[in-house]
Amino acid sequence: MVVLQLRFLLVPFLTSIMGAAQYMMQDAALMNYIDRRFLSLEKRLEKCNQDILDYVEEFRDFSQMVLSRLAGLNNYKAEVKNEVENLLTRIERAQRDIDYFGSVTDSNTCIEVHEDLVKQQLFEEAEEKQKLKLMLNASCDHMLAGIKSLKIVKKTGDKHGSWMKDPGKKHTKIYLLNGSVNNVILEFANIMTFMEDNHTLKARRVTLPSPWEGTGHIIYQGFLFYHRYGSLNEIIKFNIQKRNITDQMLLPGAGRIPAYQLSPSTKIDLAIDEQGLWAIHAEPDTGGNIVITKINHITMAVEHTWDTSCSSKDAEAAFMACNTLYVVYNFPSGGTSRIQCVYDVLDAVNTYEIPVLHFPKRQGSHSTIHYNPKEKQLFAWGDGSQIIYKLHTKQKV
Ligand SMILES: *[C@@H]1O[C@H](CO)[C@@H](O)[C@H](O)[C@H]1NC(C)=O
Ligand SMILES: *[C@@H]1O[C@H](CO)[C@@H](O)[C@H](O)[C@H]1NC(C)=O
Ligand SMILES: *[C@@H]1O[C@H](CO)[C@@H](O)[C@H](O)[C@H]1NC(C)=O
Ligand SMILES: *[C@@H]1O[C@H](CO)[C@@H](O)[C@H](O)[C@H]1NC(C)=O
Repeated sequence: MVVLQLRFLLVPFLTSIMGAAQYMMQDAALMNYIDRRFLSLEKRLEKCNQDILDYVEEFRDFSQMVLSRLAGLNNYKAEVKNEVENLLTRIERAQRDIDYFGSVTDSNTCIEVHEDLVKQQLFEEAEEKQKLKLMLNASCDHMLAGIKSLKIVKKTGDKHGSWMKDPGKKHTKIYLLNGSVNNVILEFANIMTFMEDNHTLKARRVTLPSPWEGTGHIIYQGFLFYHRYGSLNEIIKFNIQKRNITDQMLLPGAGRIPAYQLSPSTKIDLAIDEQGLWAIHAEPDTGGNIVITKINHITMAVEHTWDTSCSSKDAEAAFMACNTLYVVYNFPSGGTSRIQCVYDVLDAVNTYEIPVLHFPKRQGSHSTIHYNPKEKQLFAWGDGSQIIYKLHTKQKV
């Protein structure tokens, strides 16, 4: 009974901590730690409804710690300040109630739990989070709020393909990669050349030593990164100017099933955001859920991998923007695309409760959607058309 009441009391407490976390990205790791710690204590309370006193004591100590850590949060912004004040009030109330429970005794013995181990593991997780934050440090504070408009730039090419600019270069070149298995990149001087009628005559053709598979390739800082056709999960780094292969790597676990079930030709989708290179794929082992991997584009080493909660079923494409995966879903027959799953690698516990974001009305499907972090817009390929989507963004806070 006591345990139940205590649980009841902790839920709003936790909710308010999580609410505050949205306002304090920089403290997400701490908040996550607090959350996990509470959940672990709570779980053990369920199992162990005896000797409640010890746990009440523990809650008391812990909330004291929370109080002192909260005092150190960045609360100079008005809205954050209110949020923290609200939180402090709730903690005080919780403490009063915990004090009351502390006076209620129950005298059975409790199951032994390796408390120190749990504590250590949680601290390690918090540290890991902190490291990730340092790694993904670019000034990335925006999230998608909506899709403002669409511009169909051209209709050329195969049903599947991709087109892009290089967000890591100052030049205005446009690259066209026609088809889902091909070995020729067309390079245009700029978007005007690309839009001309005889555009292919004006293009520089770059032939790859081995063809690509799917439409998930990406161009960054003068290199094309692509999934090599005929390989399970080999990613090639190709120098477009020198026309030779610079490096290659394997992406373990990838390549067995499509990244998005509605775009079966793409097994590995690559993406560039403010943080650099990412790979997106799905695995049977994760129930067909989407897995994202941060790759160092210079060394071609895997930096970190996340199993997301986003399904690849009914997905047609996805993109990364500001550490966050946005998955685009559609109907198998092709309808209006919508973003329905969002996964922020730095705030996975709190993955934003965003409303479904619809793409501007256009019946059909996308075989590729790539975010360009320099221009903050999407380059998409839909049924042979090359499309640009302009975005509404807002502060993550
Ligand atoms: C991110 O880290 C790099 C090097 O690791 C550093 O040069 C850069 O200034 C950092 N950026 C921010 C916004 O902290
Ligand atoms: C793209 O490939 C299709 C056939 O798959 C072809 O009809 C079309 O002309 C190609 N477009 C360009 C720009 O090469
Ligand atoms: C396209 O190129 C052909 C051959 O070079 C030329 O005869 C034709 O006039 C060009 N069309 C346009 C619209 O520029
Ligand atoms: C790529 O080509 C450049 C010059 O053409 C050469 O210096 C370099 O060694 C080549 N790299 C590889 C990996 O073949």
